[in-house]
Amino acid sequence: MSANGEGLGRVVTVALGLCLVCSVVVSTAAVLLKPAQQANKTLDLKRNILMAAGLLDTSKSVEEQFEQVETRIVDLDQGRFVDGIDPAAFDQREAAKDPNQSRAIPTDKDVAKLVRREDQALVYLVRTQAGVLDKIILPIRGYGLWSTLYGFMALESDGNTVAGLGFYEHGETPGLGGEVDNPRWKSLWPGKQVYRDDQLSIQVLKGSVPAASDNAKWQVDGLSGATLTTKGVDNLVRYWLGDEGFKPLLDNLRRGEVS
Ligand SMILES: Cc1cc2nc3c(=O)[nH]c(=O)nc-3n(C[C@H](O)[C@H](O)[C@H](O)COP(=O)(O)O)c2cc1C
Repeated sequence: MSANGEGLGRVVTVALGLCLVCSVVVSTAAVLLKPAQQANKTLDLKRNILMAAGLLDTSKSVEEQFEQVETRIVDLDQGRFVDGIDPAAFDQREAAKDPNQSRAIPTDKDVAKLVRREDQALVYLVRTQAGVLDKIILPIRGYGLWSTLYGFMALESDGNTVAGLGFYEHGETPGLGGEVDNPRWKSLWPGKQVYRDDQLSIQVLKGSVPAASDNAKWQVDGLSGATLTTKGVDNLVRYWLGDEGFKPLLDNLRRGEVS
């Protein structure tokens, strides 16, 4: 073989060796870091649950504060808690995709564009020292303009007054639909009412709530320049607080039939 040919052979061998070493390093790192990534994701979810309920104290650890939160699984149709399943092992997103753990949502009811709804969902309860329900935090999700928004809505113990709302994952445009993360907009939610005479009445408006609106308690300002995300939030909030979502559970809690 000529000197040029040998040189080329060495270059190719070194390049292939380098590729092999790099791919082993990258895949080993991915495998080793997976548990840490998962732990961070879980911690972030807990932080968002506390934040939605207005309970996050940044001077304390999230884990310590989350000890006051009781995680339960609820049968959405029955509106009753399900025992015998470990909530830590229950993956609600996976359940929503699994035909054995979910059902197709009829198009006319699929306002949040979910396609399927899981049979069981996670809920988070905060109780007083005496063990009485103080807040309930519900996972909510639905389509905005570009993406599915995932978040939590917290209600007071009456199952009607909003304690807070927040989204922890979405792909809406920063400065437009991404203003769902703006603390000023989120501060409009606490104190709003969900039901009026048992009817689902909460609405996110296009524009601002009129100053003299008789319905102001049930209305939240929309995001300016982001009507489509606003409509998405309105749809998903109304879906999850309606009959297909958590209303059966909230009705049972109000009637004292579950605790
Ligand atoms: C690059 C780009 C990104 C946009 N992102 C969003 C968005 O995240 N959410 C949204 O509702 N509208 C978004 N819009 C605007 C929508 O296309 C639409 O004009 C808007 O929702 C209408 O709202 P308005 O009636 O309040 O003006 C975006 C527009 C552009 C050009």
